Amino acid sequence: MDHGHALLLRALQERRPEWLTRTGISMLEVGTTREPLPSQDSTRILSAFCQEHSWSFTTCDMDPVNSEHARELFASMGAPFVAVTAKGEDYIRTQNRAFDVVYLDAYDFDHGKHSEQRQERYEEFLGSRIDQDACEVMHLEAMQGMNHAGRKGCLVVIDDTWRDGPTKPWKGKGPRAIPWALRNGWELTMELPDYRAVVLELDPTYYRPDQRLARAAKRFGRKLGG
Ligand SMILES: C[S@@+](CC[C@H](N)C(=O)[O-])C[C@H]1O[C@@H](n2cnc3c(N)ncnc32)[C@H](O)[C@@H]1O
Repeated sequence: MDHGHALLLRALQERRPEWLTRTGISMLEVGTTREPLPSQDSTRILSAFCQEHSWSFTTCDMDPVNSEHARELFASMGAPFVAVTAKGEDYIRTQNRAFDVVYLDAYDFDHGKHSEQRQERYEEFLGSRIDQDACEVMHLEAMQGMNHAGRKGCLVVIDDTWRDGPTKPWKGKGPRAIPWALRNGWELTMELPDYRAVVLELDPTYYRPDQRLARAAKRFGRKLGG
């Protein structure tokens, strides 16, 4: 099974080929590489891709040690990239139309086999051990923030997310994020059997003034109890 960062690179080739010759595209990764495992390594792979294309790259993680390793990597590449230490959902909430491409691979889903070392990092920085509910809520809040932080045509990959059939429930990181996104301006554009990850794209008309007005009217109607 291929990793989400490989799906992201494939999605850029297939869904946004025009961006590949454009500079100034901005990529965010939420969930920095923490362990030197060949199956992970997304921070190195995605930042190298951004450097090659003269794009900007930001990676965000709640664990300062992971951020420090990313800063060392960026220094060794001579790249002006940024590693933010924060909860990804909080960081995204502070951003306004800042990112074109986002890789969401943060709070681990609870597969029951996380090492004690991982669990201790969660206890230290988030106050409790890995919890499936908290994972789903974190990715939901990150997606909700993307409706402000994403630029026109924004493309998001959520890693470790799959379902066993088109009518079956979502598993992993996305069970709350995906249904919410599909009701709020996002379309599911890639869900392939080779990847435990999915691609979501923001409706290109999402920020059009008439669409924004329609959403505001709907919210106002709801407030009035309509
Ligand atoms: C699966 S690992 C990321 C792996 C990395 N993307 C790679 O492929 O090399 C998940 C990361 O999310 C971080 N994390 C957990 N909760 C987070 C949160 N709320 N905000 C930001 N990072 C978080 C963990 O510290 C961990 O480094």
